[in-house]
Amino acid sequence: MLKDKYLYESIDKINKKYSKKDLTIFYTRLGKNFTTLYEKYSKLYKENSLFVDRLEELIISLADMYVERSNELKELDRERELDNNWYMSQNWVGTMLYVDRYNKDLKGFKEKINYLEELGINYVHLMPILKMPKKENDGGYAVSDYRVVDEKFGTMDDIRDISKTFREKNMLLELDLVLNHTSDEHEWAKKALSGEKEYQDMYYMFDDRVIPDEFEKTLPEVFPQTAPGNFTYRKEIDKWVFTVFNNYQWDLNYTNPKVFIEMVKIMLNLANQGVDILRLDAVAFMWKKIGTDSQNLEEAHIILQLYKVCAKIVAPGVVFKAEAIVQPKEIVKYLGGGIVDECEIAYNASYMVYLWDAMATQNKKILERGLENIPRIPKNTTWVNYIRCHDDIGLGYADHDIISAGYSPFDHKQFIISFYVGEFPSSYAKGERFMYNPKTKDARISGATASLLGLEKGILEKNRDLIDKAVKRIILMHSGIMSLGGIPLVYYGDEVGFTNDYSFLNDEGKKNDNRWLNRPIINWNKVENRKKEGTIENKIFIAIQKMIKIRKNLKEFYNENNYTIIKNENEHVFSFLREYQGEKTLVLMNVSEHYQVVSQEILNRANLGYRVYNIYNGNEINLEHGLIKLDPYEFLWLKFVK
Ligand code: GLC
Ligand code: GLC
Repeated sequence: MLKDKYLYESIDKINKKYSKKDLTIFYTRLGKNFTTLYEKYSKLYKENSLFVDRLEELIISLADMYVERSNELKELDRERELDNNWYMSQNWVGTMLYVDRYNKDLKGFKEKINYLEELGINYVHLMPILKMPKKENDGGYAVSDYRVVDEKFGTMDDIRDISKTFREKNMLLELDLVLNHTSDEHEWAKKALSGEKEYQDMYYMFDDRVIPDEFEKTLPEVFPQTAPGNFTYRKEIDKWVFTVFNNYQWDLNYTNPKVFIEMVKIMLNLANQGVDILRLDAVAFMWKKIGTDSQNLEEAHIILQLYKVCAKIVAPGVVFKAEAIVQPKEIVKYLGGGIVDECEIAYNASYMVYLWDAMATQNKKILERGLENIPRIPKNTTWVNYIRCHDDIGLGYADHDIISAGYSPFDHKQFIISFYVGEFPSSYAKGERFMYNPKTKDARISGATASLLGLEKGILEKNRDLIDKAVKRIILMHSGIMSLGGIPLVYYGDEVGFTNDYSFLNDEGKKNDNRWLNRPIINWNKVENRKKEGTIENKIFIAIQKMIKIRKNLKEFYNENNYTIIKNENEHVFSFLREYQGEKTLVLMNVSEHYQVVSQEILNRANLGYRVYNIYNGNEINLEHGLIKLDPYEFLWLKFVK
């Protein structure tokens, strides 16, 4: 077979290059995964004239990266191979943060690790820290050098130092891998701009508008207000460059195997710094095809599967998290469908949107129907469940979720937008429209959790009642991500109720992007307030801290997304059961601002029996008149009394 011939020829070269190294483990993994690697690679690149050379280059690069990997990480790889669903444990609770907005730089961050531990966090996503353009850089999602930490944060040594500290503490480090595009200051882009054909071929470049115009017929726009269109003209070379995001973010051309190989080396180099989880940015966009929206294409999945197989050969301890904020049924596909290995974790953007929907409507209908409509995810894959992140909230529900709840998709989305930007009469929210499209009236929503849930308004108006309700909503929302199945991600600042940060308006490079509203600069004096009983910070912090603690001890809160919706007659109370190895918790969430009751029959349906207690506060439930009572915005985690 040709395939084997290629493999043996590559191995010969590797043996010569590393005659003194023991590569037994590498070869075992290569042998085990080569067929997959070869098949996926051929699917994408069989027509390429350099098919064989590039394949060989890829295999040798994998060996190089294996040799570079430290013994300590290799040891961890072996442990994780034996416990290959280690990330499924309910023990993991995540956060994400901007290093400079948190505490100056990487060294400053290190000083705050104990604060995260106090909350119960053991998995940290550090937002982009690699070299980026000085002024506009999309919060670091425009990378100028994947091997260098931007000087404003520190150095790669700091990253290695943090990853070592994390390993000692059994914490996980996540970094971004921005695969879809580089900044226009990346070395490849600079060489392309100076006219080098080889580097121009790493991007998509067109001499005129013929092909771009064909593409535009079916391409949506990600940033229609600030970066309309998907192509940018560069006069230096008199060419149009494919730029789906901002004009300084150049889309990489994955039809060129050279791009894939270079990016694999970059991926493994990050892995070799001790990163446990790689967040693969904007993966839906990695392949383009005229006549389509160029999102979620089959080839984009094949590329991811190829990355995965390369990681399995060199750094099997590393897990992938897909950032694909797309329609519910499309997101699930990034988890490999149970047939192939792709990403192990994905953002549960659908649940996030349904939770926001339930808060605005004070009704569970869409939340419940919506969840019923999401396909279950494959074994050994999991969600990251979150309320807020650094991006906008895109109302990416499927229309049928809304229709099946009896609303009209257009009107309903308009209501949600108007609610969260604070226009709807009864709204308490202080968000803003992101990327408003006047033609379709469509928009996404920016704003901090606390501001969207009424805390900012309450504080401004010195309205005690509004403040109290906002605090309850913040806590309730967090209970939702702690219990459904998946890794909860507490967005930095939310644990003490940071509201919108308006300082971005004074920054030239940020003022046109209101996602900075929800990227707070942490004021540690405010965080200190968590220690003072009765403060807002204290109430939110101790509630989240407590949930985390309880969660870690409940094996039915394992990260498998195996909840069962247990129906009840009350439209305001969402309820589901978590069950694992004989242990059960019935979760009830009152999404309304009023008292609610649910018939005790729900306990029967969940096979719990009528003597139950709320493990969140230890209180046994008093079933007066056969009813379970819930306070406004209360949640219950019910277990039977043994
Ligand atoms: C991802 C990031 C977002 C960024 C985009 C382009 O979606 O989350 O912040 O703007 O990719 O890289
Ligand atoms: C779109 C993209 C997502 C990106 C976001 C930034 O939703 O799908 O990847 O993070 O835009 O606003």
